[in-house]
Amino acid sequence: MNARADFPFFTSPDAPVYLDNAATTQKPACVLDALRRFYTTTNSNVHRGAHRLSRAATEAHEAARSDVADFLGASSPREVLFTSGCTEGINLVAQTLARAGYVRAGDEVLVSTDAHHSNIVPWQMLCERVGAKVLPIPITPELQFDMSAYLSMLNERTRVVAVPVISNALGLRLPVEEITRAAHDVGALVLVDGAQSIAHEAVDVRQLGCDFFAFSGHKVYAPTGTGALWGREDLLESLPPWKGGGEMIRQVTFARTTYNCLPFKYEAGTPNICGNIMLAEALKYVRNLGLSAIHAHETALMHELCEGLQQLPGVQLLGGSAPRSSLVSIHVPDVHHYDLGTLLDQMDVAVRTGHHCCQPLMHALSITGTTRYSVALYNQSDDIQRALAATRKALRMLR
Ligand code: ALA
Repeated sequence: MNARADFPFFTSPDAPVYLDNAATTQKPACVLDALRRFYTTTNSNVHRGAHRLSRAATEAHEAARSDVADFLGASSPREVLFTSGCTEGINLVAQTLARAGYVRAGDEVLVSTDAHHSNIVPWQMLCERVGAKVLPIPITPELQFDMSAYLSMLNERTRVVAVPVISNALGLRLPVEEITRAAHDVGALVLVDGAQSIAHEAVDVRQLGCDFFAFSGHKVYAPTGTGALWGREDLLESLPPWKGGGEMIRQVTFARTTYNCLPFKYEAGTPNICGNIMLAEALKYVRNLGLSAIHAHETALMHELCEGLQQLPGVQLLGGSAPRSSLVSIHVPDVHHYDLGTLLDQMDVAVRTGHHCCQPLMHALSITGTTRYSVALYNQSDDIQRALAATRKALRMLR
């Protein structure tokens, strides 16, 4: 696969070897063109105006929602709520569950130890409010999801289980389908964080079997400030709205307000109209390339990267030789990750260093952070070789 020419970012002579794709991705020309096209031909507010432009903007916006629904394997666009990103989607679920009284004093919310802060803190906020507990699901010594510990934690008090498909700090895939089945056996709901899988593996929310699936647009070649939350229609119907304002109402009087139908009940205020259209454009781009071709390309790059990193003296791959489709974190005991990342930057290689918004995981591993390399569909073997050569040189300089 050679899709780099689709990304204007890489035409700059200053473009680095970009291996920080788990943090955010570059944007293809078709997505950037969609922004220009919308603002030069269609810009108008949605769902309100009687005029032609407003109808065109509304149609484009709702067509975007249908495209997102198709991409996720949703049963209906009514199940797709536009959000500002994965974080907002998870907060929406936690806050509406709290408001609905679904989680009560003494209840338990299980969250995997390798979850991102955005899939931990909203649950802590919910639990603090109602007197419930957030319990971490341990990882095994190989840093995999500890299925037997999880199964032993499930009980009638478990109300929610929250896990990522792929951990953003380790790059390891969790057995989401099995996790979901076991949670449902005790009557718990499952929220899946798809931030690190959405650009790398095909998703079918019905096959995953979860109740909610959240992702961010900017991880899948769309702009920042975009994303979607998929939720089971019956749940979204029964839960209360979380933000009040225009669009989410049916009728407002000072005596009583009634709410709009799905999905608008959860979308107060003017949506990110152009951003949502760009999100659909990005998903269309990915779909046209084909997620299985993307997956094969990135898996080959990751194989080359992991093989190369493993040969560098003193470098430990967190999670060992387990398969990874898009990212790997390394720990070098005698070198601080920040120093390594800074030297790599000076050699024009962009990686991420630090705790990756996973402080509980870092605590469990007794480290302060890692150096993380993450690939996207536009990376090439040449990027991997340049990153490996720079890492080798940086480590020599730091010892
Ligand atoms: N959540 C993003 C990351 O893991 C920012 O890098």
